[in-house]
Amino acid sequence: MSGSELALEVKDLRTTLFLREGRVDVVRGVSFQLKQGETLALVGESGCGKTMTALSIMRLLPDPPARVTHGQVLLAGADVSRMPEHQMRSLRGETVSIVFQEPLTSLDPVFTIGDQIVEAITSHRKLQRGEAREMAVEILKEVQIPSPGQRLKDYPHQLSGGMRQRVMIAMALVLDPKVLIADEPTTALDVTIQAQILDLIRTEQEQRRLAVLLITHNLPVVSQVADRVAVMYAGEVVEEAPASEIFSDPRHPYTQGLLSSIPSAAGDHKHLYTIPGRVPDPRVLPPACLFAPRCPYALRRCWQEHPELEATVSAGHADTSTQPDRHLLRCWNPQPFTALQAIEPQEVDRRIATSE
Ligand SMILES: Nc1ncnc2c1ncn2[C@@H]1O[C@H](COP(=O)(O)OP(=O)(O)OP(=O)(O)O)[C@@H](O)[C@H]1O
Ligand SMILES: [Mg+2]
Repeated sequence: MSGSELALEVKDLRTTLFLREGRVDVVRGVSFQLKQGETLALVGESGCGKTMTALSIMRLLPDPPARVTHGQVLLAGADVSRMPEHQMRSLRGETVSIVFQEPLTSLDPVFTIGDQIVEAITSHRKLQRGEAREMAVEILKEVQIPSPGQRLKDYPHQLSGGMRQRVMIAMALVLDPKVLIADEPTTALDVTIQAQILDLIRTEQEQRRLAVLLITHNLPVVSQVADRVAVMYAGEVVEEAPASEIFSDPRHPYTQGLLSSIPSAAGDHKHLYTIPGRVPDPRVLPPACLFAPRCPYALRRCWQEHPELEATVSAGHADTSTQPDRHLLRCWNPQPFTALQAIEPQEVDRRIATSE
């Protein structure tokens, strides 16, 4: 695939925290590609580096302590890694936008919705206030906010959580970017509103041929909207595949564990699988495979050699790493997806202690 068809390409990204106690890598060589009109879901437990990846792409890392220390981010072919800040500022909103989990913290409580959208427009485009206001009404209409002219006069606290998230999406899209990053966009909302917001993202994505990077720890959400899924664990991508394959044929024991711990509507909640132990502290990582302490299939090799992310043969497809439906896996001992063997949390602690 030529570089120009790609809306976003992340190459071997490493993000490091410079803390008093030393350097800690929280994103460890992450690579992925996103085409126009495609949705890639980035999933994984809390603390695995999803937000740090998103903030690295946007160049919005809290610096100090965080800094990108390796790799490249290409947005619509342009390398943003070494771009001067003023150029990056014009790309934010115009080429790439981000929507966060809690819109109340992203919206300024002392300005009206209208002021904030108009400001987002006029900081990029030389337009009269009236023209920008018209654009604001149009975009609020597009994200299905009733009486948009009236709502422009509202302050953020006067809107419901779902409406605020619609406003954030409107602000993110008003300058017609190519890439939308949505970091847990529905997590703070109740289930019915979640579904409506996902619907909205999907509709906008189709109409605008947006490339969407959807960050979530909610796998059922992923199954509704994603084309491809990248599963992150302790700062690394451990599996990446078409969404349908992640659900039908997950290869990594971590992905299998995540899927086995989803309660189904009619399911037997008592026998849900729980991945034993916790995500490792990035300051004290296992020596080779980072998932080995929690893995039901760990071998001696998993404690000795770090596995790379490599193309695997997926059912019915030829094995090449350049195919759009490629299935990538970082594992020495993948097993078919069956009932996972339970491990006691004490066993995880023992393995870490002895690093067997
Ligand atoms: N400002 C900071 N100072 C120190 N450590 C931080 C800071 N911000 C993030 N971290 C650490 O970086 C790692 C990655 O965090 P990140 O926020 O990217 O996780 P996440 O996958 O987005 O999790 P969640 O699902 O909870 O949002 C975690 O170990 C976290 O504790
Ligand atoms: Mg996060």
